[in-house]
Order: sequence, then structure tokens, then C-alpha cells
Amino acid sequence: MVNLRVPCRPIIAYRPIRPSDLVVLEKLHGDLFPIRYESEFFQNVVNGHDIVAWGAVDHSRPDGQSDELIGFVTARSVSAKDSEIEDLLSFDSSKTDQTLLYILTLGVVESYRNLGIASSLIHEVMKYASSISSCRAVYLHVIWYNTPAIRFYRKMSFHCLRRLYNFYFINGQHHDSYLFVYYVNGSRSPCSPLELVTLFLSYAKRGFKSMAAKLWRNEERKMSKWPKCKESGCLLPTVQNKRIITAEGSRSQFV
Ligand SMILES: CC(C)(COP(=O)(O)OP(=O)(O)OC[C@H]1O[C@@H](n2cnc3c(N)ncnc32)[C@H](O)[C@@H]1OP(=O)(O)O)[C@@H](O)C(=O)NCCC(=O)NCCS
Repeated sequence: MVNLRVPCRPIIAYRPIRPSDLVVLEKLHGDLFPIRYESEFFQNVVNGHDIVAWGAVDHSRPDGQSDELIGFVTARSVSAKDSEIEDLLSFDSSKTDQTLLYILTLGVVESYRNLGIASSLIHEVMKYASSISSCRAVYLHVIWYNTPAIRFYRKMSFHCLRRLYNFYFINGQHHDSYLFVYYVNGSRSPCSPLELVTLFLSYAKRGFKSMAAKLWRNEERKMSKWPKCKESGCLLPTVQNKRIITAEGSRSQFV
């Protein structure tokens, strides 16, 4: 784990992540997250392929380190229609170009925490999302036991919309996640009676599908002696979000 000594007067600056950040970015992800990300993910981040990313640096560190990342946030734009939160957005569904910004990873070196660095990085993301007129919300998943992160997102005015059961699969264990959303550009969660009925029906449908899938899996398990998937150290969402499979190819997620 990176645990740098923080100078008594750090001079924190924020900038977009660039190719020269590759090695440090990869190291920080390795230190802060319980999963391994593919090198393609880091290449996409530093080269801005389909991903936007900001870093924090401390200019008061000695030469050679004064531009080294001590925090980062990465995010990618997704189509609202294809997202799992389409039903939780109150927007004109006839408009097909609506987008969302999905936060992939966020981290700050331990010794630099509680200085407001993650807050500033998230503000960059919010500012960026608000500047895109088609963008309706910023959203993310967080593993159920990551209390500092959960407190942090609440403090940043994110709304916790759902608990997703068994969303992650890490080292042979399933874990739930929370889905947090921050609405931008006048978007909001549904609140008219019709919207709430639609939302209720969509939940009921989802619940029915999930129950059917569970029953189906139980049947399959009975029928097959061997499990179909190999367990891995990777973070695999299981039921709820089939779109995001692994950290590979920039479709990663964080915990
Ligand atoms: C979650 C995480 C990113 C927060 O980073 P951070 O830079 O410490 O966050 P901030 O400083 O912006 O805010 C965190 C706390 O510091 C406090 N804070 C904010 N600005 C502050 C300031 N200027 N001075 C003192 N405290 C401050 C906040 O009130 C907040 O306190 P609370 O949430 O305990 O009530 C960090 O803990 C981390 O990297 N964790 C490991 C990776 C991880 O879990 N990522 C998130 C995955 S979902």
C-alpha cells in the first residue's frame, strides 16, 4: 500500500490524466482495489479512449514527484437507454441520445485522505457531466462494506437508489453493492403517480425475472455436477448488471 508522507502544507492540484501517469496509475489501482484490472483498461484511461479521468498531484513534493498522482477518478459515458437505471430517470424517453456518466474508479493515497481530494475529483466529474447537455446523471456501484466510500457519496449528495444482491463475486464470495446516483441537468428520480406506478411495475418485473433466474440456476446446479464458471479473483457482477462483465476493455467497475 502506498503510504506517502504528506508535507505539512501540501499544494494539491487537479489535472486530466495523461500517458505519463500510466505506471503510477496502475500501481495505485493495485494498492487500493481488491481486483486486478487489465492493462487495456489503464491504456484506455491514460489515452482517453472512451474514458475521462482526472488526477490529483501534490506540487509541494520534491522534484520528480511533484506531478505524480496521489488520487484519481475515472469515468465513462454510457447510453441512458442501455443502462440499468433507465427506469429511475425521469426524462423524455423519446430522446434516444440521453447519456449517463458511470464512475469506474476513484481513489486517494491513504496518507492524503480527509483533505477533500476525492470531493474535488468528484466535483470535476459533476462539472463535466453538467457540461454535456445530453447527460442526465452520474452513477456508480459501491460494495456494501465500504463504509468510508458510502459516507463519502452521501456527503457528496449522491442518492442511494438500490441494493443489488450478489452484484460482486470476489475471491469466491458474493457481495451486495449499492447503486448511487447524482442527477444533473435538471434530471430527477420519478415522482409523479404515473411514474411511480411505472417504476413499481418495473421493480416487480425485475424481481420476477431475478426469482425465475434463481430457480433456473438451482435447477441447473442440480442437473450439472460441474460448475459452469471458473471462480476468479476478479470482480464479477453476477445477476443485476450483465452489461459490465470484467475490468477488461475499460468496462470495469469499482468497489
Ligand atoms: C473513499 C475515498 C476516495 C475518499 O477520499 P478522501 O480524499 O479521503 O475524501 P474527502 O477528503 O474528499 O472526504 C472524506 C472525508 O474527509 C472530510 N473532509 C473533506 N474535506 C476536508 C478538509 N478540507 N479537511 C478535513 N476533512 C475534510 C469529509 O467530511 C469526509 O468526512 P466523512 O466522510 O468521514 O464525514 C478514499 O477513502 C479512498 O481512496 N478509499 C479507497 C478506495 C475506495 O474505496 N474508493 C471508492 C470506491 S467506491
